[in-house]
Amino acid sequence: MKPVILDVDTGLDDACALLLAARHPELDLKAVTCAGGNVGLDDVVRNTLTVLDAAGRPDVPVARGAAVPLLQPVRMARHVHGEDGLGDIDWPRSTRTTDPRHAVELLRDVLREAAATGDLITLIPLAPLTNIALLLRTYPDAAAGLREIVFMGGAAGIGNATASAEFNVWTDPEAAAIVLTAAGELGVPTTMYGLDVFYDVVVTLDQARGLSGSQSAELARKLIEKRSELYQGDGASIGDGGAVCAVIDPSGLTTQPFPVRIELSGSWSRGRTIVDTRDWSADLTSDPHGLSPTTVQVATAVDGKRYAEMWL
Ligand code: BDR
Ligand code: CA
Repeated sequence: MKPVILDVDTGLDDACALLLAARHPELDLKAVTCAGGNVGLDDVVRNTLTVLDAAGRPDVPVARGAAVPLLQPVRMARHVHGEDGLGDIDWPRSTRTTDPRHAVELLRDVLREAAATGDLITLIPLAPLTNIALLLRTYPDAAAGLREIVFMGGAAGIGNATASAEFNVWTDPEAAAIVLTAAGELGVPTTMYGLDVFYDVVVTLDQARGLSGSQSAELARKLIEKRSELYQGDGASIGDGGAVCAVIDPSGLTTQPFPVRIELSGSWSRGRTIVDTRDWSADLTSDPHGLSPTTVQVATAVDGKRYAEMWL
């Protein structure tokens, strides 16, 4: 089993990701950490516990993390995820409490243990990268417990929050810059599951309506129905869930190594992931001025059908 940690801002599609990570037989979900993003932290935490309850996984430790980005106010996406972040669907909400540790401390503890045992962890951030930036700056030794980072965020092409920027990176660009820089410095292999593939793992309404027989299946169906309604489509992408699919079956994802930087200023481009796709970009990774970009495996194509089947 592959040990994984999810960092989430649950979110309808984070919920799709959580269900898969909690239920897939090849994954060992060690912990879930929460950050403000799609909705405020209290809602994120409640939604996360609710999904894990439905998945029959109250054993997974869940910790509260950063409520707001490092520098700027949180700007939520209630128009995409409903008032409460879970599409305001008719479903009993969890009243459980979280792990007493802060998200950064939970990450630190689980990663240090992984480093000690050698059973390294795949970290799957699906939210603004605030918690992960704080972790890597505060406890860089914890990176020894990481096998890799597979994060949902960024885009080589167009953005969604703005024409330039993808929501997770746009929400906390400084955190994204810290994470990429630290991953480069600490030698943590990193994959960017960005908007170039994010919308391509689609579950149709017909497929979703076939989901029944367990709490997790019922919730999965409601999540797709709600996303489908909000996007006015025949079904919906599982969004963040695709990043979990990519960890389970990396052969369904096409990636290319490119140097990536985060735009931290810019009138209209703040939060953009600058993916250097020039033919000669591999020669530019060592910058004499100390501003080297980090080379990241950028997802360029996905086998959407295969991943949708896996999720179902
Ligand atoms: C990302 O932003 C959020 O709305 C989704 O949960 C996903 O993580 C897509 O840009
Ligand atoms: Ca998310």
